Amino acid sequence: MLEIQGLDVDYRSHGGTVRAVRGVDLAVGRGETLGLVGESGCGKSSLARAVMRLTDVARGAIRIDGIDIARLKGRALLPYRRKLQMVFQDSASSLDPRFDMTRIIEEPLRTTQANGAARARRVASLMDQVGLAASLKDRYPHELSGGQRQRAAIARALACGPELLVLDEPVSALDVSLQAQVLNLLVDLQQEYKLAYLFVSHDIGVVQHMADRVAVMYLGRIVETGTHADVLAAPAHPYTQALLAAVPVISPRTHRIANRPVVTGELPSPLNPPTGCAFHPRCPLVQARCRHAVPQLRVAGEGRAVACHLHETSQVSSLCLQEGLVPA
Ligand SMILES: Nc1ncnc2c1ncn2[C@@H]1O[C@H](COP(=O)(O)OP(=O)(O)OP(=O)(O)O)[C@@H](O)[C@H]1O
Ligand SMILES: [Mg+2]
Repeated sequence: MLEIQGLDVDYRSHGGTVRAVRGVDLAVGRGETLGLVGESGCGKSSLARAVMRLTDVARGAIRIDGIDIARLKGRALLPYRRKLQMVFQDSASSLDPRFDMTRIIEEPLRTTQANGAARARRVASLMDQVGLAASLKDRYPHELSGGQRQRAAIARALACGPELLVLDEPVSALDVSLQAQVLNLLVDLQQEYKLAYLFVSHDIGVVQHMADRVAVMYLGRIVETGTHADVLAAPAHPYTQALLAAVPVISPRTHRIANRPVVTGELPSPLNPPTGCAFHPRCPLVQARCRHAVPQLRVAGEGRAVACHLHETSQVSSLCLQEGLVPA
């Protein structure tokens, strides 16, 4: 239902142009969860906000059911605003502090549902679905806990019957015990409403619980995609391997915590990205060509793609053409 092609997001800043998202191709099917993972500053929120048209698209297409919305404006965007909703990391600042719960949750309904009593019934039902007690309906955001606020943000996102939710770090601000509850709620809602999720997180452990497919982002580019099982069990890109090393994993064979190389150094500045593969200054497996040639995202098995020179084999398959990828 969502297809992103060649997406670039640029920011002008004093030091020049920040290329926050560079040539991203991604797709999310109906009812599917795509997990987008990468460390802080790699461009996840820029991509999420571009999909919601909250950030300008410099280049590329964002197709919803085949229609490119990347350059639509004003009223032409309205039908897509209903299909796509977003939940932000920090509900303390994404919910209007002047409105109580009822007003916050019913806000998106005010344009479509003129009948106040019908809106109130809908708000009561939404609050129930996200596990908010009816007694909280007159509370203001600062009178709620972080978990309750996040549930309210989810209720608000559901109000107009969306088909896809963009969830940008929806549990990152919550305690670990609350994270599981909110993630479980999201799983239940997805099944009930056949929702598609673009689930953004810096935490590959959280993505692991939620995603059918995973896309790994590094300095604005997708470096690896595949099913959750493939990418997490056998990460192909050295960066994915490093991300996974930060999560304690038990090897199914030895039942020991597996030892993997850990990524060192800082994320380079997107104002002045490294030449060649952007990961090369931190890559334990760096080779000469990595310093000057940018690796393309290439098919590396069924439903799997990786942008790494080490994986450029002679394996040319019809899959490449199907997926619109550059054959190795
Ligand atoms: N409005 C802006 N103006 C200029 N630069 C920006 C702006 N928003 C983001 N950036 C820069 O773009 C890059 C990507 O930022 P983005 O917020 O998309 O990353 P992120 O992956 O969501 O990070 P985090 O995990 O910390 O939320 C960063 O270098 C950031 O400093
Ligand atoms: Mg972010």
